[in-house]
Parts: sequence; structure tokens; C-alpha cells
Amino acid sequence: MGAADRARARLVDGMRDVGRLCSPAVEEAFRAVPRHLFLPRVPLERAYADEAVATQSVDGVTTSSASQPSMMAIMLAQLDLRPGHRVLEIGAGTGYNAALMARLVGPQGHVVSVDIDADLVDGAARHLAAAEVGEVELVCGDGALGHPPGAPYDRIVLTVGSGDVRPEWVGQLVPGGRLLLPLGLRGTQVSVALDLGADGALRSASVRRCSFVRLRGVGAVSEAGTTVDGGVSVLPADSRVDPALVRAALAAPGPVRHVPEPLGAGDLWDGFGMWLALTEPGACRLLGGRVDPDDPDPDGLPAELLPVRDHAASIGIFADSPAGPGLAAVVLDPAANPVTRGPWPVRVRAFGPAGEALSDRVLAAAAAWVDAGRPAPEDLRLTVVPDGLPPPPGAGAIVVDQGHCRVFVCPPAA
Ligand SMILES: C[S@@+](CC[C@H](N)C(=O)[O-])C[C@H]1O[C@@H](n2cnc3c(N)ncnc32)[C@H](O)[C@@H]1O
Repeated sequence: MGAADRARARLVDGMRDVGRLCSPAVEEAFRAVPRHLFLPRVPLERAYADEAVATQSVDGVTTSSASQPSMMAIMLAQLDLRPGHRVLEIGAGTGYNAALMARLVGPQGHVVSVDIDADLVDGAARHLAAAEVGEVELVCGDGALGHPPGAPYDRIVLTVGSGDVRPEWVGQLVPGGRLLLPLGLRGTQVSVALDLGADGALRSASVRRCSFVRLRGVGAVSEAGTTVDGGVSVLPADSRVDPALVRAALAAPGPVRHVPEPLGAGDLWDGFGMWLALTEPGACRLLGGRVDPDDPDPDGLPAELLPVRDHAASIGIFADSPAGPGLAAVVLDPAANPVTRGPWPVRVRAFGPAGEALSDRVLAAAAAWVDAGRPAPEDLRLTVVPDGLPPPPGAGAIVVDQGHCRVFVCPPAA
């Protein structure tokens, strides 16, 4: 056994030991396909770490990466590939996931993998040849349109984030087929496996949290935040905010109120953060710079943000009112030790004339989230209704309008 084989065995054993590999077929594929041949310029140790590896960036923003192996394992389990399946992947990247899928569908199946970038498609072709995987059809094109010549597909999977479920993907699935995609839902990205029903609606079979680079091309949506003070950006969940109004609110910091529940980073971003965005108009996320251990004492709002995935961040509600603009933001309690991974004691700080009423709403939403059992993305049930179709009975009460569909969200106890 060579060094690469040993490193791969260690990676797969590790993923299995922490419960990330529940399907024997997926485990076998990870053991068989040599990831390092899809990352030829990356040291062996990194190629077999359970980490995403950025492979392309534009202006400092990652545009392609080899996804984290354990996230790939979760998504391959969600995709539930069977021998003989025809599958379309949108986001070929290095070609590694396509090679794993080719192994899972076997010689009777077929994998088509599309990438928008010709250089990446050329690279994926070289990697697949080096790994002696001949069964993948690579296509350079905009996956927002799917790939009609290969349709219909039993499975369509996006390995790139989308803010919409496009009619092309739904139209290219077989009846009862499954679409798996990282879907943006008011600022929370979830990997959702959607089964196409006879009534034309798609219902979630499973939902997991995830973090993927965004779709380029005709399906791209701008998720840029509005930068306000101290390098802090405000990302509204449902509409744009006027930076001048946010600045005016931030210039008038007001009282703080105690939040009874301590919050960890996952609670703040994917748990309560998701809940607030789904239930409160004006919900927003606040994003500061990277957490800098050499600058433990930044000033102002950045000093009160929480450490989330190496960034200073928070959530809150912004609104304009006849009395003036206001913001209520969840902030660290001074008793919290941000060097730990949390959960931390937190407070809500009001800014501007409308801030205190917004603090009431943040506190009420936190209490409702706790009463509902602190739901996370995994607890949601989604029904995606393409434009022009009526909502089926039993679809959730929370409605998120996307470009070509409405997503009905059913949280537990809602
Ligand atoms: C996270 S990477 C995919 C990783 C890949 N599955 C692998 O195994 O290496 C996302 C990919 O989506 C591609 N992409 C972005 N927008 C696209 C589009 N509209 N159509 C097709 N591919 C797109 C990017 O170029 C990038 O290579």
C-alpha cells in the first residue's frame, strides 16, 4: 500500500468513525477513487484532509473548490444513487464527485457533469483520465439550463449554491426523480433533497446545513451586503437596505437586554438565525471581518459581534419607522469568552429610535425558537412549488418567494 492509499484509508476511516459515512456503497466509492489525482498540485496530506480545497478564485472570492469530503458524503447519501441511474451534476469542478458518482451508478448508469468554466472542464477531463474513469460525460455550459440532450435524469445534483429551483431542472427529471441542491433560503444555505411528485411539487426528503460557492451565469443572484461602519456588512434576508439609514441607526446605540438562552455559533447562524430570517420581516445578518486573535479589542459594534466560522458576525432586525431607523442586534455579553467555541451568554442591543421595539421582536422570536425545540435546518420540511402551480394541501405556513418557485417551509411545531 502506497502513501496515497494509506492517507485515503485514514480519511475514510475517520469519516466513518464520526458517523459521516452511513452508506456502504458511498464508503466503497471513497475508498476506491483517488482524490489526490483530482488535486494534482496539492500536497498529499491536504488532498486527504477532511477539508475543502479552493482551486480557483476571482478577486479574492472562491469560484471553484474541491468540496469537503464529509460534506460530499452527506450529499451522496442524500442523493441515494442506485446502479443504472442517469445523473446530471451541475458544477464539475475537479471531476472528483463525478468520479464517485460514476462508481455508484456503475456501467449501466450514466453521469453527465457540467461546468461553466472551460479551463475547469479541461482540468476535470485530465483528472478523470489520470484516475482511469472513462464513464463521465463532461460538458462546458451554464448548468442553470440543465443539459437537455441527456434528459431525463433520475437524479440532478448541484454542487454549487442556488437561490432558486429552476424550471429547467424540474423539467429534466424523470417522474419521481430527485433534485439535490444547496438552496439559499433567506440567507441560510441548506442542502435539500427534493423529490418530484405527480402534482408537480417537489417535497424534501432530507435537509442538511451546508456552505457552497454560488452559481455563476444566468442563475447568479447578487448576495452582496451593504457595508456600514467598522467594516461591518449588513445582509438583509429579503430586500436591500439603505446604508445611510443603517448608519443613522448605528450612530445611536441604545439599551441592551439579556437573552435567556446562551447561543453557540451554529445556533446563531443556522438555528436561531435561520428562524429569525424565516419569521421576521427585516431580519438581517451582520458580517464583520475575519476574527483577528492579534486584535482582541476592536471598537464599537465589531467588538460585540460573535465568532462564526472565523468571522465576526451576528443577526438582528432592521426597520425604518416614522420615528427614525432602528436596528436590534444580538451581541456578546461582556461575561462571554469569545475564545471558547460557545455557547456564549448574549444580549440584544438596540440602535436608533426604532431599536427598542425591534429588540422586543428579537426576544420574542428567540423565545418562540426555544419553544419550537431550537430547530436547525435538519428539522425543516420544505415543499417547492414551481410558478403556475397551486400550493398542495399541508405545505408549510412560511412562504419564501424565489425566482421561479415558491418554497413553503414547515418548521417543527409551526
Ligand atoms: C464547489 S465547486 C464543485 C466541486 C466539484 N463537484 C468537485 O467534485 O470538485 C462548484 C463548481 O460550480 C461551477 N459553476 C458555477 N456556476 C455554474 C453554472 N452556472 N453552471 C455550471 N457550473 C457552474 C464552478 O465553476 C465550480 O467549479
